[in-house]
Amino acid sequence: MSSPISLGIDLGTSELKAVLLDESGTVLAHTGVRLAISRPQAGWSEQDPEDWWQACLAGLHQLRQQQPDAYARVCCIGLSGQMHGAVLLDQNDRVLRPAILWDDSRALAQAQWLEREHPDFAGITGSLPMAGLTAPKLLWLREHEPQLFNRISCVLSPKDYLRLRLTGERISDVSDAAGTLWLDVRRRDWFEPMLQATGLERHQMPRLVEGSAAAADLCAAAASQLALQSTVLVAGGGGDNPVSAVGIGAIEAGQAFVTLGTSAAVVAITDHVAGNPASAVHSFCHALPQRWYTMGAMLAGASCLRWVTQLLGQVNEQALLQLAQEQVPLGQPVPAATPLFLPYLAGERTPHNDPLLRGGFMNLAYETTPAMLGYAVLEGVGFGLLDAMAAVQSAGAEVSTCSLVGGGARSNYWAQLLANILDREICTLSGSELSACIGAAKLGFLAYGRGRDLPGLGMPVKARFVPAAGQQEMLQERYRKFRDLFAAAHALHG
Ligand code: XUL
Repeated sequence: MSSPISLGIDLGTSELKAVLLDESGTVLAHTGVRLAISRPQAGWSEQDPEDWWQACLAGLHQLRQQQPDAYARVCCIGLSGQMHGAVLLDQNDRVLRPAILWDDSRALAQAQWLEREHPDFAGITGSLPMAGLTAPKLLWLREHEPQLFNRISCVLSPKDYLRLRLTGERISDVSDAAGTLWLDVRRRDWFEPMLQATGLERHQMPRLVEGSAAAADLCAAAASQLALQSTVLVAGGGGDNPVSAVGIGAIEAGQAFVTLGTSAAVVAITDHVAGNPASAVHSFCHALPQRWYTMGAMLAGASCLRWVTQLLGQVNEQALLQLAQEQVPLGQPVPAATPLFLPYLAGERTPHNDPLLRGGFMNLAYETTPAMLGYAVLEGVGFGLLDAMAAVQSAGAEVSTCSLVGGGARSNYWAQLLANILDREICTLSGSELSACIGAAKLGFLAYGRGRDLPGLGMPVKARFVPAAGQQEMLQERYRKFRDLFAAAHALHG
């Protein structure tokens, strides 16, 4: 047969993206389909799994239009997706209610209850119970929607719902399963005491495979709907952060990266389960066997920049970044009226584990300009990442190299500011906005028995940002003040 092509699909929160990848790691086509989020109550965040499937159909149709020959050569599919969401299925695999997403905080009391009742579980599941993770959501459903809870035959993570539509089978992979809090991350298998603590049993969980292993073949219905061969193999795939890691070639202990998308995270690869869940980091399974990663997760990342851009009535993020660059140039001390910004617009996971926390500007003056507000937001997200980085390192994960990926990586100004704040060299990479799709497609090839060297294949460095001499003292001083503001922010809802 002519050279095989792998199809990588990343089910994000705001967009489903898909790529066609050849065996040399070259992207032959890519596409994106926007997704809407519904927020029916404060702190709630939901999506209809049917919308994901429709986006998948539309995206694959576009890829086929762009590259019909390559599309016809698709032999394998890899999946990546937003983590920690709960898709509830009845015994006929029908969806029982809209999926509850990773940034939904309704299950706070349930997460706190789990932490109180089962303090020893965090060392096994790799994370403290947090409102956004899957297990506490099921406790919330048991309390608030008991009739629906009793009809649950299976709980799937978001991308695994796409797999169900593609293959007809209930299957997950260990990296996404780790994000549910029901996994024993060392043994890479379901942890039954946590399932029992949330009123569930093992038979309600999907079958588990490694990210790079074969999961199942396409079912006949999906093959005909998607105009693909029914011999196409679907790989395990994984959660978006570990799969992005595979996309950029971060597969060995010590390799680390910062992602700046809707959320933000510091992710460091490890060859063991790193400790210290008390610092509110997640130590989860990687999408490749015998690898793990430690992640400091922020709930709001580049979304803070989008928010302040709209608030200030700026045309787009680029315009505000331009203003900030002109009026708050990085080589100089920031003007006195530049506020400090707390980036907790949606609460925070690492290091605070507090979904009720909210953000703020402090030190506003008559002289404060939109450019200064813009700078403060970029800096505040950077300080949040510095907290996340310290938490990751406190868990024993090594950070020897650090790249920057996600939408926020498009700004050189922000990348330089992050290098200054994190006090380490940061690289941006060409093509990193597709890292999760590319990682998924690489896992597809591995499951198909091809592309052994693909996971280690990195992306070309676009630019390197070295910490600027002379900035550290000023930034450290501002960081100290940033940290001091936390107590006041916490007291507002205490
Ligand atoms: C990671 C996290 C987000 C989601 C959405 O813990 O919650 O990164 O995976 O992308």
